[in-house]
Amino acid sequence: MYLQCCEEGWHRCSVSPFLVSLLYGLAGDVNVQGEEVKKLDVLANDLFINMLTSSYTTCLLVSEENKTVIEVEKERQGKYIVCFDPLDGSSNIDCLVSIGSIFSIYRKSSDGDPTVNDALQPGNTLVAAGYALYGSATMMVISTGDGVNGFMLDPSIGEFVLTDPGMKIKEKGKIYSLNEGYANLWDPAVAEYVLGKKAKKAGARYIGSMVADVHRTIKYGGIFMYPATADSPKGKLRLLYECNPMAFLVEQAGGKATTGKMRILDIVPTDIHQRTPIFLGSAGDVQEIIDLYTKHN
Ligand code: AHM
Ligand code: MG
Repeated sequence: MYLQCCEEGWHRCSVSPFLVSLLYGLAGDVNVQGEEVKKLDVLANDLFINMLTSSYTTCLLVSEENKTVIEVEKERQGKYIVCFDPLDGSSNIDCLVSIGSIFSIYRKSSDGDPTVNDALQPGNTLVAAGYALYGSATMMVISTGDGVNGFMLDPSIGEFVLTDPGMKIKEKGKIYSLNEGYANLWDPAVAEYVLGKKAKKAGARYIGSMVADVHRTIKYGGIFMYPATADSPKGKLRLLYECNPMAFLVEQAGGKATTGKMRILDIVPTDIHQRTPIFLGSAGDVQEIIDLYTKHN
């Protein structure tokens, strides 16, 4: 407990004002997507870069917060390429709603110095991917291509404990998840799909933090969607460090992930920050939106 004195007298604070000012509010910058960068985003990005470069296992990093790829200094280079969103769901930071971190790991497949082309691999060549969810507890969910395992942080021992081995997504779920504020901008396939969900009285859940929405989808089943809109024909979410790692995990858990027209993991990237529409979750639910795209094509 921390005591702070101000004009009205003494206040009890659980964290120091220094820590609060460090973690909350804007850093006064915009990232490469033109969005406001929060201080916690900056902190998380610095941590990711420092840990990865000092691990001697990586040669190239792609971060949501950095416009260009980061080449690890020669003497510290290893064979892996890591793409990451250090802190996803940043609009939820200041209201204390769950946020997360997402990463994907590729092996460098070319000879010579690493270049941006080494990072432009389709998701079907991923070596591993995962996310950390900072929610009612902290959890890491990881796949190395042989199923999905979830590890809960036990703060009393400072270790991640395997609590969710072999995570599997139900074949069909009862929840649909997307930002319905954009309903007027959807294409006919998404509009028909959501109408169908309402007709079946499916549950609607949308946190606005991809990690939390995807984690719920893996645990409870259903579908998470961030479709194209008339304003954003490629959607919002980024392929390399949001869609590919989540698609990999969902497929490894027995689900599906698609743009509506093709498998997410088969997209060959041309830009490290490119976006794609995404539908992922229970295989049966995702197949229904694929069928609607075929019908409306
Ligand atoms: P961010 O990387 O700037 O945090 O944005 C990504 C987030 C996702 O976590 C979430 O699915 C989406 O943006 C929500 O967007 P919207 O507010 O348009 O629904
Ligand atoms: Mg993000």
